[in-house]
Amino acid sequence: MMDLSKNQIIRMFNVYKAYGKTSALRDISLEIYAGEIVFITGASGAGKSTLLKLFYKGELASQGQILVDGMNLARMGARKLPELRRRIGVIFQDFKLIAGRTVFDNVALPLEAAGEKPKIIEKKVMSVLRTAGIEDKAKVYPPSLSGGEQQRVAVARAVVGSPSLILADEPTASLDPHSAEQVIQLLETFHGRGATLVIATHNRRMISRLKGREIRLENGSIQERLHGSDREMEEA
Ligand SMILES: Nc1ncnc2c1ncn2[C@@H]1O[C@H](COP(=O)(O)OP(=O)(O)OP(=O)(O)O)[C@@H](O)[C@H]1O
Ligand SMILES: [Mg+2]
Repeated sequence: MMDLSKNQIIRMFNVYKAYGKTSALRDISLEIYAGEIVFITGASGAGKSTLLKLFYKGELASQGQILVDGMNLARMGARKLPELRRRIGVIFQDFKLIAGRTVFDNVALPLEAAGEKPKIIEKKVMSVLRTAGIEDKAKVYPPSLSGGEQQRVAVARAVVGSPSLILADEPTASLDPHSAEQVIQLLETFHGRGATLVIATHNRRMISRLKGREIRLENGSIQERLHGSDREMEEA
C-alpha cells in the first residue's frame, strides 16, 4: 500500500481538550497536508488558540491522538520536545519578542537553541531580515519598532530555522491594514519556500488572498464546510 502518511504534517484523531470544567475542544479529527495553507476560524472562545497550542505541545490534549510531522505528541518524551519545536515556527498576535535583546538576537534565538555556529547564525539571520525588509533594524531593540515591524521580526524568528510548519495565532489582528498586508506577503513568501501554514484569523482579506482551506470551529467542534453564500454574507 502507498504510504500517504508522509504527506500529512498534522493528523488528529478524536481530540478533546478541557481546562478544568471548561471544554475547549471536542472530538476534533483533522488532517493537514504538507505545503497546505489552512485557516482556523470561528468566534472568540471557539478554540482556535487552543488548537494551535496542541500542535506545538504548548498544551496537552485531554484525550485523543495527535501526530505532527510523524511525532506522536502524547507518547513523545520530554527529550524530544526541542526537536518538535525546531520543526515548528510560531507567531503570536502580540509578537512576544524579548525587549532586552536586539532584533538580530531575537531572530537568532532558535538557531542558538539548535546549537548553530555563529557564522551560520549571522548569515541566516541577516538573510531572513532582508527578506522581511528590516535588515536595517538588526541592532535595534523591539520596543522602538512599530507594531508592523515587530511582527515582521516575529515572522523572521519563526522561519529562520526553516521549520516545516508555521503556526500563526491572529498574526494581523493588532496591525494596521498596510502592516497586515506586509505580514501576509511575508507569510506567502515563506509558504512559497515550502512551509505549511496554519493560521488562526478573523482577517477575511488574508483568507481570500492566500487561498487556503478554512477549518471553522464552533464551540470547540469543527463546523461543516461553509457554503459560498454564507461566506459572501460574512465578508459583506
Ligand atoms: N488557560 C486556560 N484556562 C482555562 N480556560 C481556558 C484557557 N485557555 C482557553 N480557555 C478557554 O477555552 C475556550 C477556547 O479558548 P481559545 O483561547 O482557544 O479560543 P479562541 O478561539 O482562540 O478565542 P479568541 O478569538 O478570543 O482568541 C474558551 O472558553 C476559553 O475561555
Ligand atoms: Mg485565540
